[in-house]
Order: sequence, then structure tokens, then C-alpha cells
Amino acid sequence: MRSDWTVTPIAPAGGAIIGGVDLGVDRSPPTLDALHDLLTEHLVLVLRDQTLDAAAHVEVGSRFGEPYVHPFLEAVPEHPAILQVLKTEEDEATFGGEFWHADITFESPPSSVSLLHSFEIPPLGGDTLFANQFLAYDTLSSGLRRMLDGLEAVHAYPDLDVEIGRTAAVHPVVRTHPVSGRRALFVNPAFVSRFVDMTEAESTPILRMLFEHQTREEFRFRVRWQPRQLTIWDNRAVQHYALNDYAGHRRRLQRVTVMEIPDGVRGSASADGGTRTPTPFGART
Ligand code: SIN
Repeated sequence: MRSDWTVTPIAPAGGAIIGGVDLGVDRSPPTLDALHDLLTEHLVLVLRDQTLDAAAHVEVGSRFGEPYVHPFLEAVPEHPAILQVLKTEEDEATFGGEFWHADITFESPPSSVSLLHSFEIPPLGGDTLFANQFLAYDTLSSGLRRMLDGLEAVHAYPDLDVEIGRTAAVHPVVRTHPVSGRRALFVNPAFVSRFVDMTEAESTPILRMLFEHQTREEFRFRVRWQPRQLTIWDNRAVQHYALNDYAGHRRRLQRVTVMEIPDGVRGSASADGGTRTPTPFGART
């Protein structure tokens, strides 16, 4: 870590506020590498008072994986890899819906990291909750861990026909972090409704138990927002939940999500992103 930075942990389960960084000014490889190391350690990083523009936002994201162009949701004009995360004064629902999730798990490879940059924040509320999925895995019994270690689950975009490779993907239920080697529980209620080679009826009771377990209070921590804050989270390590407690106020942020690069091989900006027609329904992200 750089000697002029400060690191203030958020909670025992994870998260840290990093002081002394302005990514609008310095996006040099040593700076981004140092942030990468801090993210591996703390799982979620909060950087306040950032001056970065849209292109810089994508550039920083590229240090963590392949910027993703969402096939079903509208992007910010001229920036296909940036999603608008907006709830207006009139809206009732939040952008991602009220679900714990990791981002873009219906793709293969799934996302590695998301970077959410804030512009307009309600005077109170609108915090984002996170839950540490390494702790969720580590605290299961050895018998259940053994069972889950051998399972895969189907992650499908809601309300669409399940088509592996387009609207759905199969992932191990336990995801090993490529840098730390730690094992995380990798199912979530936004995208997963069954295990591979099991019916929904067979899967549901086990999934319900896992969904309840994986967001236990002692695994959670909370990020409060200010305008011009960049929060970076590791989707391989945490799930998140955007609180919907600020009715009548506007909240606007922009998100870049990057996908894991298998074996470190970098491909094009998106496999077929942007070629599919955005749909207006129930965003899950
Ligand atoms: C998201 O689900 O990526 C958005 C999180 C938030 O709005 O806090």
C-alpha cells in the first residue's frame, strides 16, 4: 500500500475506506495494483471525493477484469460499459430490485468486480449492504461444505427463457477466489433457482437455507454514500443489497462491472454485448 494512503476498516466482516487516492489524477499501474491488493484484503473499498470521468471509470475497471456491456439494460449514452443506476423521486423500486446478489452471475465467466460511482444521493438512507461470502462458506458444517463443494447451480436472468450461454450460466456453488484462494458460497436469490441435476422442488429447500445463512448479520457491513464516491466490490467475495428507504428522493449512480478474465487472457470488450435488444422489465443486475 502507498504510504500516503489511509485505510479505515468498516466492520469485522469487511470493507475499508481508503483515503488519499484521487483516481481522476492518478490511475498509474502502481496505484491500481495497490487498490487491487487492498480489494483482495478488504473485499469492498470506499474512495471518497473522486474526480474521475466516465472514460476514467471504465479505465479503472479494466484493471480488475473485462468491462461488461449489459445485454438487457440501457447504458449511459456513449459509454456502453456504464450502467445508469437511478431511482427518481417518483420511482418505487430500486434499480436492482430488493434482492441480495452478486452482479451478472448469469454470464460465464461471471463478473469479478463492480465499481459504482455516485452523483446524487438522498439526504438520508440509500446505503448499500454487503455480506461476506467467505465467512458464509467457512461457517457451514464440514458435511454441508463437502456436499456443496461438488455441486453446480444454474444462474438465470429472471423472466427470460433459460438458455445457457445467453440468459443463463452454470457455476460451481463454491467459488475459489483466483488471487486469495479463499472459498466463497456462490449462489444468490436474484439469479439462482436450482442446482444442476436437481429439480427446483429438490433444490428450493437447500437454497432457502443457504440464502438465509449467507446474509447473517455477522457477515454483513454497510456502505454509506456521498456524491462523487467510488465504491469497488469483489463479486467473488461479497453479495450486496441496495436499501430502498428514501422514498421521494433521487439517487443516481453509474456502475461499471467487469468480468473475470479466464487464465488472464484478455478478450474483446464484450462477447456479444450491445447486440441484444434492451428490455424494459424487471432489472436484475
Ligand atoms: C447494484 O445492485 O449494483 C446497485 C447497488 C446500489 O444501488 O447500491
